Amino acid sequence: MSDYFNYQNNQLCVEQVPLTDIAQHFGTPCYVYSHTALVDGYRQFESAFAGRKHLICYAVKANPNIAILHQLAWLGAGFDVVSGGELQRVLAAGAGASKVVFSGVGKTVAEMRLALDAEILCFNVESEAELVRLNEVAGSMGKIAPVSLRVNPDVDAKTHPYISTGLKQNKFGVAYTEALALYHKAAELPHLRVTGIDCHIGSQLTEIGPFIAAVEKVLALVEVLAAEGIALEHLDLGGGLGIRYDNETPPSIADYAGALLTALQLRNEKIIVEPGRVLVGNAGVLLTRVEYLKYGEEKNFAIVDAAMNDLMRPALYDAWHRIQPVVRVPSPQSSDGTTSHSTRLSKDDSQVAGYPASGRGGERERQSLIYEVVGPVCETGDFLGHARELAVTQGDLLAVMSAGAYGMSMSSNYNSRPRAAEVMVSGTVVQLIRERETVHQLFAGEKTFLL
Ligand code: LLP
Repeated sequence: MSDYFNYQNNQLCVEQVPLTDIAQHFGTPCYVYSHTALVDGYRQFESAFAGRKHLICYAVKANPNIAILHQLAWLGAGFDVVSGGELQRVLAAGAGASKVVFSGVGKTVAEMRLALDAEILCFNVESEAELVRLNEVAGSMGKIAPVSLRVNPDVDAKTHPYISTGLKQNKFGVAYTEALALYHKAAELPHLRVTGIDCHIGSQLTEIGPFIAAVEKVLALVEVLAAEGIALEHLDLGGGLGIRYDNETPPSIADYAGALLTALQLRNEKIIVEPGRVLVGNAGVLLTRVEYLKYGEEKNFAIVDAAMNDLMRPALYDAWHRIQPVVRVPSPQSSDGTTSHSTRLSKDDSQVAGYPASGRGGERERQSLIYEVVGPVCETGDFLGHARELAVTQGDLLAVMSAGAYGMSMSSNYNSRPRAAEVMVSGTVVQLIRERETVHQLFAGEKTFLL
């Protein structure tokens, strides 16, 4: 449990607000974020790199909600974007383009134009073909594009294969052995200006070793480049710092930054990092309600109203998220009157329509049993957690923890399910930061085919 989500009088709260109240007011499924967690995480980065020229470029893909971007921009963050859409979000959030780096293997001409028009800080170029295209596009606009090459250092990040990006069999970056030649090419192209070097080896790294192995390879290249007359302004070391979902023990932000700074002490270029998950992952939960309990011969199922379309990580990576009861009570009777409600948004949760106060789960209700926590989507892969011990009954609320990163951002409308609402909390202040989608919005752009 983090400092931002904890039990007060047996009610799981986000900061000072019971999640029960948020569910009652905004419905479920609902993503709930702690504003303080976000700010604290960012400040930890700032203080870890203090005393060194640096820029913390939040990886927008982790959670692109405008409220999150706006808050981080206000704190002084830059942004790592991977599409024109993400760049437009950053601009819409009121952030300046001058702190934006643009990563990604497939930048289109339109995206390059958008970024050149906005005058971003740097393009992280991932192939020779992209370098050539960027030079042409910049030339056609009468602009000079600032570039870094994303170098693939061929380092094993020791993470899930789908989110490992720094091995030579991965599609990312330019091969380490070709980087030098490409830098010389970039330096000669008339509409490019070489400003940096970039590297990102993967996500959810729980050890420092692979980060340092990558930095050392980058540094070796930087030194050769300097000797050959290509001086860089910044070193972008990517993102990837992991978080604790279960029993992982990732390095702290301070230890991670300290190790990078130690490895870099002989250099004085500006350091850029691109953290995503570590800033927002444990700042958010997915709040969901038990619709049905179903007891099988082999397995019991807690069927909840959130599904793989809301949180894809379990289905896609077999990812493990802690699942907590929102109200910790041994029996239905004791759930009444045990909460501290200084910030209640509305009346007691036991009166939710459709979930009468008794007779919801038969004699097994609220017994501690092992459940598959599954959603309503028509796929066996639609699960949020396997084999979880829970004492629940129909209508109970559950919180899927550590869901702030790559939760909402990877959600879809599969099964014509509108995407969840998003709520942010600071202390006792609660604000809706994204309305629940409506079904009408889902098919608003569709047309009947008429012959
Ligand atoms: N920079 C680049 C170029 C990236 O590709 C990524 C993430 C980041 C920074 C941020 O990495 P972070 O600090 O968040 O680890 N959907 C997956 C994670 C995909 C990460 C993709 N790239 C998941 O849910 O685990």
